[in-house]
Amino acid sequence: MWKKEKNNGKPACKSFVQMEQIVLPNDANPLNTLFGGRLLLWIDTAGAMAAIKHSRKEVVTVAVDSVDFKEPIKVGNMVKLLAKVTWTGRTSMEVKIDIFKENPYSGEIVKTNQAFMTFVALDNKGRPVKIPPVLPETEEEIFDNCQAKERRELRLKNAIDSQRPCCNK
Ligand SMILES: CC(C)(COP(=O)(O)OP(=O)(O)OC[C@H]1O[C@@H](n2cnc3c(N)ncnc32)[C@H](O)[C@@H]1OP(=O)(O)O)[C@@H](O)C(=O)NCCC(=O)NCCS
Repeated sequence: MWKKEKNNGKPACKSFVQMEQIVLPNDANPLNTLFGGRLLLWIDTAGAMAAIKHSRKEVVTVAVDSVDFKEPIKVGNMVKLLAKVTWTGRTSMEVKIDIFKENPYSGEIVKTNQAFMTFVALDNKGRPVKIPPVLPETEEEIFDNCQAKERRELRLKNAIDSQRPCCNK
């Protein structure tokens, strides 16, 4: 079984994406730091590219886990996003996106955020389609893959809970 899966599967590293941006005034909020919505766009873009590289299909975002903004990123800083598929189901895949800011003059690099997103691969009729299983290889990939199952259960539970009618309607 493991052998069969291994033959059909794809190493996690094949989905790796590195995307870099510089924060321009147009990306900023009134405090002159990166606007959160812009960062979410970049996270979604890097995550989708990793999902496409894994599945080689069109993908749509089906879930975004909570993202914390603890470190402001100033205009003029560079932002690096590293994305990789951590887990696969039948048609869906979880992608981890690590985000770093880099001071362009000192070269100092600080991790600012981490996000997990779920994408679904679609066929040419827009229906969910089977994807190859991901093969985690490094210690970090194996750790992320094990933890992903718990995150998925929580995500699916939250999705069901959010469909329940509101009690004061
Ligand atoms: C994504 C979409 C095609 C899934 O359709 P669906 O009818 O729910 O399909 P399924 O029930 O077969 O689910 C497909 C997969 O998504 C997973 N999924 C569905 N909702 C999910 C959620 N909230 N969180 C995590 N995974 C989810 C399912 O578990 C399943 O995974 P699996 O095949 O790996 O087991 C559909 O919900 C959709 O089109 N959503 C809108 C996407 C969109 O517009 N995104 C923003 C722009 S990219």
